Amino acid sequence: MNMNASSNALQERRVALVTGAASGIGASVCRYLASIGVHIAAADQNAEGLEALRAQLNPDVQFLGAVIDVRDEAAQQEFVARVEKSLGAITDVVPCAGLARSAPAEDMTAEQWDLVLDINLRGTFLTCKAAANVMLPRRRGSIVCIASITAKGGQPGRANYAASKWGLVGLVKSLASEWGNRGIRVNAVAPNGVDTPMLNVGVPEHFRDDVMLDRTPLGRFARPEEIAQTIGFLLSDAASYVTGSILEVDGGLTSGFLTHRHGTDYALHGRS
Ligand SMILES: NC(=O)c1ccc[n+]([C@@H]2O[C@H](COP(=O)([O-])OP(=O)(O)OC[C@H]3O[C@@H](n4cnc5c(N)ncnc54)[C@H](O)[C@@H]3O)[C@@H](O)[C@H]2O)c1
Repeated sequence: MNMNASSNALQERRVALVTGAASGIGASVCRYLASIGVHIAAADQNAEGLEALRAQLNPDVQFLGAVIDVRDEAAQQEFVARVEKSLGAITDVVPCAGLARSAPAEDMTAEQWDLVLDINLRGTFLTCKAAANVMLPRRRGSIVCIASITAKGGQPGRANYAASKWGLVGLVKSLASEWGNRGIRVNAVAPNGVDTPMLNVGVPEHFRDDVMLDRTPLGRFARPEEIAQTIGFLLSDAASYVTGSILEVDGGLTSGFLTHRHGTDYALHGRS
């Protein structure tokens, strides 16, 4: 294959930029997209996790990893430039880097507030901005951010996290409005609990199991692959008319105030 043919082939392939790629949902998104032939550009603060991820990917796709703090705008811009040079045009973007720091609101420190807002919201904005600057001129690209059921209501002990996810919804809807007529779709998924390391950060076991699970009609938390596949759908041309949407992937948790795993027992009991 001559150089032109090979660079054309590279251009036709999808290239996904994923942050928070070393763990949980981000790693699962990388594995899923690689399995359908998408090249992977993975960023995270965790170098070991990135190395472990590389070994799990479909060997037929190209991989570029970078140890980056998503709060660093210059590092994100530099990574985008490096990805475009080595893997080709970025087509898909999934900013997954995020964390939770829980505390009663009256005790929450300004540092805990800033850390969560800076990574979950500002970091996501910087990823979208850096990628959009190369995708907008080509009028092609799809971005899926990670909101949460905490972007649908509040959660005790997580004022900072909830604010970051409500902010993210405003960000997604604004970017969708601003970039839609220039070929870029922007959506988000809003998961309930997902079985990743984050699920155990600052969420007491009894609250997780007795309250969250009990109110989840499907009766279990999500596997990261289930979130990754929904993200895969929103990224793909199968969702070509979907933008500005916040798609619940929550096992039914936000279906109603009275949602309850035992609801069917009550419904059957009330049958006359
Ligand atoms: N797990 C859940 O129950 C759940 C539910 C709803 C939403 N989410 C959201 O999904 C996203 C991914 O979470 P997860 O469950 O996969 O968590 P995770 O802890 O498994 O993975 C998060 C990744 O982000 C990376 N990261 C954190 N700060 C970073 C920074 N400043 N720069 C670069 N990388 C950084 C971490 O190193 C880690 O690899 C987060 O935005 C989270 O809020 C998670």
